Amino acid sequence: MSVDTAVLCEPVTLPTGTAPGTAPAPASPAPTGRRASADAPLPVLGDDVLAPLVTGGEVFYAALDYAASAPVLRRVWDDVAAYAPYYGSVHRGAGHLSQVSTRLYEESRATVARFLGCRPDDEVVFTRATTDSLNLLARALPTDTRVFVFETEHHASLLPWRGHRTTCLRAPRTPDEAVAALDEALRAAPAGPKLVCVTGASNVTGEIWPVRELAAAAHRHGARIVLDAAQLAPHHPVDVSELDVDWVAFSGHKLYAPFGAGVLAGRTDWLRAAEPYLAGGGASKRVVRDADGALDVEWHTGAARHEAGSPNVVGAYALAAACRALEEAGFDRLVRREQRLLARVLDGLADVPGVRVLSLFGPEAERVGVLSFVVDGWNSSHFAAALSAEYGIGVRDGMFCAHPLLRALLGGAPDEPGECGGAPAPDAGTGERSLNAVRASFGAGTPDEHVDRFVRAVRELVTEGPRWTYRTEDGRCVPDEDAATAAG
Ligand SMILES: Cc1ncc(COP(=O)(O)O)c(C=O)c1O
Repeated sequence: MSVDTAVLCEPVTLPTGTAPGTAPAPASPAPTGRRASADAPLPVLGDDVLAPLVTGGEVFYAALDYAASAPVLRRVWDDVAAYAPYYGSVHRGAGHLSQVSTRLYEESRATVARFLGCRPDDEVVFTRATTDSLNLLARALPTDTRVFVFETEHHASLLPWRGHRTTCLRAPRTPDEAVAALDEALRAAPAGPKLVCVTGASNVTGEIWPVRELAAAAHRHGARIVLDAAQLAPHHPVDVSELDVDWVAFSGHKLYAPFGAGVLAGRTDWLRAAEPYLAGGGASKRVVRDADGALDVEWHTGAARHEAGSPNVVGAYALAAACRALEEAGFDRLVRREQRLLARVLDGLADVPGVRVLSLFGPEAERVGVLSFVVDGWNSSHFAAALSAEYGIGVRDGMFCAHPLLRALLGGAPDEPGECGGAPAPDAGTGERSLNAVRASFGAGTPDEHVDRFVRAVRELVTEGPRWTYRTEDGRCVPDEDAATAAG
């Protein structure tokens, strides 16, 4: 097979005027929106990136897709830059930089354990992300383990258990109903190992689940519980001891540290009894070829057992730096600020006709800064495209890797996303409703201006309609370039 080296060697070109840390390129008209920073508790990279608008000019990009991947904390970037000259292989190198890197890698483990309030005997395994962590645990389950999940989970917590007997519980409509449903299912289950997997905060509704109560129900029936904290940990303290969960999983890139690391932390016994997640160097202590030509392997027992291959030391270090930054900023302060932004968004959207914010648990539910909504008469892909193209706001649209939850929330909406077509009339009523939604999410790096611009944009799009035309391309709505040509 021939490889097109011209393509491989093509340099990546950043759009002009968007290089982080550089002064904005001259723009006409002058960029609108206020450059982020002053009122965001933690500075992030990218607050000076300009997004082009289809209607002309540029605006400071408003990143409202934290739930997918949060921007990099400046502090994390600085810590990684300070470490970079000392970067070296970990664990097996004899040289000075290997020793420095090994120490930092192991210290990162300790920082994460402290951040999570781990028990003294718990283990922190570095993985690639939450999906990897939960797949690792799925591979470590004792034979005949029964698994219990709610259909509301992200696919990362719903699908890894497919080789095991899994009970998928219906979407509960209150936190109490969730606890009662789990209690009943576990009571009816036969003896034997059992695992409950539950999300801490939904990646669709942002609603916080009753983790402590679910853990108590699990333990009452001799089950163990793993907490998917992918969306909880960036917004809220997660204390393994206090919540009394057996394991917790989360991702660095949602916690302001996008360098490819994640975590599975918790009880050691099932992990130590399991075959290594990956077979290879680092996980093996001693390998011998026996007389019959077979390989006899003695595996490590600690975290290294499931970290075969060269560890992602930069990822682990960045993730630990993010944990330190959040701890030092003080979660109480961060939570209060985020709740203020959330109230502003929810109040603002409540005033816009035809906007429905999705919720399982109702308006009183505790939430993090993640919310999804549908708009009467709008295809969600069209709405998200207009927010980006006309307002420089980055949100997400679709089913958010939580298909059963979207079905539970949107009931009989058709599966087909439908066409985005032209501009819907402001009074279009329920037109192109389909099984997708728009999600906005924010956090410690979000300035007030971003959420205010978002609320204003939603109101304007709904009441006045878009100022551009859009067409469907590969199932997604994009600004129509022909309209751009026609406009000039
Ligand atoms: C609740 C939840 N769990 C798990 C995941 C998977 O995380 P990752 O893609 O980092 O593995 C996500 C990602 O969006 C999520 O929102």
